[in-house]
Amino acid sequence: MNNADEIIKYLDMSKHPEGGYFKETYRSGETIKHQYLPKRFTIDHAFSTAIYFLLKQGDFSALHTIKQEEIWHFYSGTPIDIHMIHPDGDYEPIHLGNDILNGEIPQGIVPAGSVFGATVCDNSKYDYSLVGCTVAPGFEFEDFTLHKKDELLERFAQHRELIESLTRE
Ligand code: GUN
Repeated sequence: MNNADEIIKYLDMSKHPEGGYFKETYRSGETIKHQYLPKRFTIDHAFSTAIYFLLKQGDFSALHTIKQEEIWHFYSGTPIDIHMIHPDGDYEPIHLGNDILNGEIPQGIVPAGSVFGATVCDNSKYDYSLVGCTVAPGFEFEDFTLHKKDELLERFAQHRELIESLTRE
């Protein structure tokens, strides 16, 4: 078994609909009623949640959006590139890794409402990238949108290449 599969098994991770594997590691026991959250949230949410997220070499996190900010933390393996398209159409990457003096950062913030996905950087040493993703209020699949290629091409025609490489449908 390669390292990626061993880690997936050891951390008890499941397939994520955006690609890769995840395991929820924390869900606050306290809840905020939806009427006390901004109007874009339609159901009650835990105060905060956290996951492990693993991408195998060659796999990608498909372009998606959530309604809250997401904080990505680098843990181990190969650096990851997070690709963000902000609502105004600007593209912004985050090069997430632990080689801080060579331009990688161990923590990255994705703004609420931005379209984003991720790719694993080329590396011969590791066959995976393991990160953490933390959100507040907590994650709910009701507030998660996995985007279709055609819908994104209509909104952001200038990013055709990125959209074609980071969507599956
Ligand atoms: N729980 C299930 N999927 C996700 C995700 O994509 N992000 C976060 N933060 N939590 C999740």
